[in-house]
Amino acid sequence: MSQDNIQSTLHENRHFPPSAEFVRTASLSSEQLNELYAQAEQDNPGFWATQARKEIDWQTPFTTTLDSSNAPFYRWFPDGKLNVSYNCLDRQLEHNADKTAIIFEGEPGDIEHISYQELHARVCRFSNALKAQGITQGDRVIIYMPMIAEAVVAMQACARIGAIHSVVFGGFSASSLKDRIEDTQAKLVITADGGHRGGKIIELKATTDTALNQGCDSVKTVIVFKRTGHDINMQPERDIWWSDAEKGHNSDCEPVWVDATHPLFLLYTSGSTGKPKGIQHSSGGYLLNAITTMRWVFDIQDSDVFWCTADVGWITGHTYVAYGPLATGATIVIYEGVPTVPNGGRFWDICTRLGVTIFYTAPTAIRALMKMGDDIPNSYDLSKLRLLGTVGEPINPEAWMWYYNVIGQRRCPIVDTWWQTETGAHMIAPVPAVTTTKPGSCTRALPGIDAAVVNQEGEEITHADEGGYLVIRQPWPSMIQTVWGDNQRYKDTYWPYFDGKYYLAGDSARRDEDGFFWIMGRIDDVLNVSGHRLGTMEIESALVAHPRVAEAAVVGQPHDVKGEAVFAYVVLRGDRPTGGIDDELTQELRAWVGEQIGAIAKPDDIRYADNLPKTRSGKIMRRLLRTIAKGEEITQDTSTLENESILPQLQGKA
Ligand code: PRX
Repeated sequence: MSQDNIQSTLHENRHFPPSAEFVRTASLSSEQLNELYAQAEQDNPGFWATQARKEIDWQTPFTTTLDSSNAPFYRWFPDGKLNVSYNCLDRQLEHNADKTAIIFEGEPGDIEHISYQELHARVCRFSNALKAQGITQGDRVIIYMPMIAEAVVAMQACARIGAIHSVVFGGFSASSLKDRIEDTQAKLVITADGGHRGGKIIELKATTDTALNQGCDSVKTVIVFKRTGHDINMQPERDIWWSDAEKGHNSDCEPVWVDATHPLFLLYTSGSTGKPKGIQHSSGGYLLNAITTMRWVFDIQDSDVFWCTADVGWITGHTYVAYGPLATGATIVIYEGVPTVPNGGRFWDICTRLGVTIFYTAPTAIRALMKMGDDIPNSYDLSKLRLLGTVGEPINPEAWMWYYNVIGQRRCPIVDTWWQTETGAHMIAPVPAVTTTKPGSCTRALPGIDAAVVNQEGEEITHADEGGYLVIRQPWPSMIQTVWGDNQRYKDTYWPYFDGKYYLAGDSARRDEDGFFWIMGRIDDVLNVSGHRLGTMEIESALVAHPRVAEAAVVGQPHDVKGEAVFAYVVLRGDRPTGGIDDELTQELRAWVGEQIGAIAKPDDIRYADNLPKTRSGKIMRRLLRTIAKGEEITQDTSTLENESILPQLQGKA
């Protein structure tokens, strides 16, 4: 646990109470929040049962709230039946049918407004198309799409018919896509010819073809949405255009009522060991916390235009694009491209033109945009914004202050939301009309969420200057159900200590004198690059799969925009390049990792050494490698190194 991290945040004493204007218009007051905390404190499952009855339309109401008989495989609302898509769409039809559900903006500038009525019709039509392709309840469907409205249509359609979707981020490689297809044994892939990103076309269909050519025998059908219109290859027996798949189907489709515990989706995420794991989420519990957090943290109101910039390939794009906002009848913005096309004002331009009121993004984007200077945002009208949010990694106080002063113009509260793919929804976050925020802290656990910082023995740490494991001590509705196909891995990863009673988040944290949480980083070998989780082992495996690489070790290096950058130490088969420099090979290895995993995993820097530093028992000295990557002075004991001469090589000095 880094003492530096503790020190740098211990002295943060700036406080930002919500403005009187925000408090006046917000839907959750301090008294109401206290009441929620009190109810949850008194009877945690009872509290969630009340919320679930209030927020969800059940086809069959549940009578049991929580089945803990097979813990840690908790089952929320096990005898209740619902449909998530019904809760998102059908229940808006009576009063909100004409309300805009989605404002889509493509990177080239095309804009489309889709009402709830229209979205419902599209989802139903596509649900019928899926059924016609033989997809039924429980089947897995892979979605590999650009960030366009149809990605949400596809997710909602799966939910409607009880199929389990697994969205794969469009930036992942063919090999990553193949791994996910094979692990899920999906029958069908939904993709597009391509998508627009960064002024280029991403070849989604071509990448899908490459993946499917490597195996993936479970896939019988590929549905292709025409987005870019460029030439692609269609394999007649397997591939069908989205528009053809929909032909002849009407816009009515009865929802399939599923158990609350029926898996809504699988989403793959990196861990410290092995291949990415399929995080399995439920239908009822997941939906509940998607809704409650939209209310408590985002203060969602009927007139809001809500924009979460995350791609649907990540959990944030599931909970705060595809499900939570629609289940609360919000108008959302979906933007296909990157923040810098055609220039660094794109996000602020969209906020101005589309009247965005709530804006939610990652610290990495904030830092990148901050670097471009204040003049760009200052030239737009950001006066409609009323609430700002961040997610994905700790936000440094400097970026927080810039977000607050320049984007929010000291008017908008900032909600720094801590959560994970596994938690499904926000766990620790401010309630904007109530919490006095501090730059860099995600503040307090939400009602019903029993988060704590504990030591190795599971004892709570409350001293402000001590860090420990971040845990959640009671189950919550949107919690991970299991790792797809691997119950043991679920138990081993998330419930390894404390008699299996506390959920281990994998983060270290500390509480300050007000009880606020400060996240300090991961306790495992997981990197957080631009808010995305990458396992160091995954990147190492990719590197050693290259014929010229004998051994590799990957660590994180602090990066002023990405938060963390990938830093790789490589031992080659054969001779080390002269002076440790071989630009051509470095480019080749970077491209190789891009092909194996995806562009986000490419090492920023590669150092070549004759060996890796190891302890006597043969363990790679990662702490030493991290110190070197940071360019810090080596304070670790290096006397056990077999070959001390590698130190200057690792440091890039020889
Ligand atoms: O380390 C924490 C960090 O991101 C991890 C979860 O990553 P992922 O499952 O990809 O989900 C990201 C979006 C929810 C956490 O274990 N993290 C997430 N939010 C924050 C954060 N670290 C600090 N502050 C946050 N607000």
